[in-house]
Amino acid sequence: MTAGTTIMPSRLNQILCLDDFEAAARRHLPAPVFAYVSGGVERNQTLQANGQAFERFEFVTRVLVDTSKRSTQTALFGREWSAPFGIAPMGISALSAYRGDLVLAQAAANENVPMIMSGSSLIRMEEIVQANPQAWFQAYLPGAEDEIVALIERVNAAGYGTLVLTLDASIASNRENNIRAGFSTPLRPSARLAWQDLTHPRWLFGTFLQTLLRHGMPHFENNHARRGAPILSANVLRDFSDRGHLGWRHIRTIRAMWPGRMVLKGILDVRDAQLALDHGADGLIVSNHGARQLDGTVSPMRVLPAIVKACPGIPVMIDSGFRRGTDMLKALALGAAFVFIGRPFNYAAAVAGVAGVRKGITLLRDEVSRDMAMLGVSHIADTRKIRLMAAPSTEQD
Ligand code: GLV
Repeated sequence: MTAGTTIMPSRLNQILCLDDFEAAARRHLPAPVFAYVSGGVERNQTLQANGQAFERFEFVTRVLVDTSKRSTQTALFGREWSAPFGIAPMGISALSAYRGDLVLAQAAANENVPMIMSGSSLIRMEEIVQANPQAWFQAYLPGAEDEIVALIERVNAAGYGTLVLTLDASIASNRENNIRAGFSTPLRPSARLAWQDLTHPRWLFGTFLQTLLRHGMPHFENNHARRGAPILSANVLRDFSDRGHLGWRHIRTIRAMWPGRMVLKGILDVRDAQLALDHGADGLIVSNHGARQLDGTVSPMRVLPAIVKACPGIPVMIDSGFRRGTDMLKALALGAAFVFIGRPFNYAAAVAGVAGVRKGITLLRDEVSRDMAMLGVSHIADTRKIRLMAAPSTEQD
């Protein structure tokens, strides 16, 4: 069974936009697994705010502009991608979808968009970069300096050209929703989990048992240079070291040894953006981790303009809450160089493998192209000229 054979064409026919994958995945996945992917933290205030952040802006459209030769091709880091968006890193994707990281990597390669491999994943990073040599690698830094060095050496030896360092997860966040739904990492066997598995047989046989049968018990493979904990275990603590003591000196160490592009992710404060520049970042991802870290955190869209202004020399990318072509074009109009989207592609991989993710990418790319026509823009480089106005309800903010 290859990574793409969970295709259910009839399911895909009913998918008209990225949000439709969520409803399909809710039915397909055991509740604890769906809760892990979909959830935010505490009151989910930031999760809601991320979605609403786009409503603060309205487009001023143009007429009678010839956009018949428009293209969604986007230049980033010296390369042309087919669209101004890519796949954000997502932990343990191979639990929700059979060979999930590989599915995402293959679909991204097929559609020529970037895919960021999560460090908190269950398939070895070496396998992913072989399937998609353009994939980026996202690291959660281990706590000890010698372990950081060993991990970065491994990423380099694997052949990745772009390293993304996620900086907003210095400690594990308060995911009450996960605990309530019976999810933990590692997963702990329980009667409740077994019941959820049995009542989701397509996931149980097509994803979980298929994985056990063909690849053995999945482990956290990429948090360190060495293999980490198994995903299902009665007594192993999560392979997630405390990083509360990490500082900019660690970024300096990494910059000195990492020959490729270094992208810092999780930046929201313009002062941190400035520090990132000072420490040799080649790009930033303005992000609140898909609302999975601190509840009440500002939406990246609100701080984007200030960070773009402070960092004119490097691409300022963004993620958290993007679902529509219009969402992306608002970010591009505010100066974002690129957008990353996570959860919908995870759901797409879960319900329909490579075909599902390719459909998601195609739908979104089509939305961007259609929206560009109505905005009178033919090239992504010109999206900066799109005029936005504050929505009436937010003008007093
Ligand atoms: C990352 O691994 C996350 O769960 O946010």
